[in-house]
Amino acid sequence: MFGRDLIEDANVATLPAHVAIIMDGNGRWASKRLMPRFEGHRRGVEALRRTVRAASDIGIRYLTLYSFSSENWSRPRLEVDYLMGLVKRFVRNDLAELHASNVRVRIIGERDGLEGELADLLVDAENLTAANTGLTLIVAFNYGGRQEIATAARRLAEMVAAGTLKPEEITPELLAGKLHTVDIPDPDLVIRTSGEQRISNFLLWQSAYAEFVFLPLLWPDFDRSALEAALAEFKARDRRFGGVSEPTPPRQATSG
Ligand code: IPE
Ligand code: IPE
Ligand code: MG
Repeated sequence: MFGRDLIEDANVATLPAHVAIIMDGNGRWASKRLMPRFEGHRRGVEALRRTVRAASDIGIRYLTLYSFSSENWSRPRLEVDYLMGLVKRFVRNDLAELHASNVRVRIIGERDGLEGELADLLVDAENLTAANTGLTLIVAFNYGGRQEIATAARRLAEMVAAGTLKPEEITPELLAGKLHTVDIPDPDLVIRTSGEQRISNFLLWQSAYAEFVFLPLLWPDFDRSALEAALAEFKARDRRFGGVSEPTPPRQATSG
């Protein structure tokens, strides 16, 4: 969909179809309370649960949550281990409720190199909920935008080398079809908590025309009202997609 159609649709649909969140600030939330960082992560999972329920309730179709980046492996070993354990616990404890709520789970990110038990749990979550028709919950786990684009480029290069694709046939749409997010619409709204104003390798390709809302609050404090405030800000934005906001009426033809 291009140009005018896209602009008109965006004006009608003031609720974003796809909200993506960079859940940041767990460590600072804990430090402020003189608690260890892992306590912030534990409380972050509670905020995540609230957010999934609220998004589903409000009628958002796609919710992507950035839960572990390709670069987060550089954290201390104990913190990485805790985060891996938290993901496993989350799937074990919450999958049944997500399924009962008609939520469809998808995981984006690099699967290679993940510990076997964890990789199996991620597959279980996707398989169990594959036919659900409610909110699509996309968990970005071991995810990096540059890595994702490089992998897609490699796949296209392999097709060219095999003679099944000509270089001149490569288009943005074709490349997008090789990303982890195939069949998922681009995010309309990207929210980042914790006051940082950067993208940190999240959905680089897909957020080309996303609206960004940066919130000062730390992720464990995020709740339904914070989500609603971000949605209200989104609603007030004028999305132009490179076009013009108010199509000017056609000029009267002037004679002579
Ligand atoms: C976000 O909180 C959670 C993950 C990146 C896994 P942080 O752990 O980055 O918290 P801060 O940014 O250090 O406060
Ligand atoms: C981004 O947060 C990753 C996640 C929220 C999972 P970081 O805390 O890792 O980002 P930087 O290091 O501050 O850019
Ligand atoms: Mg952080």
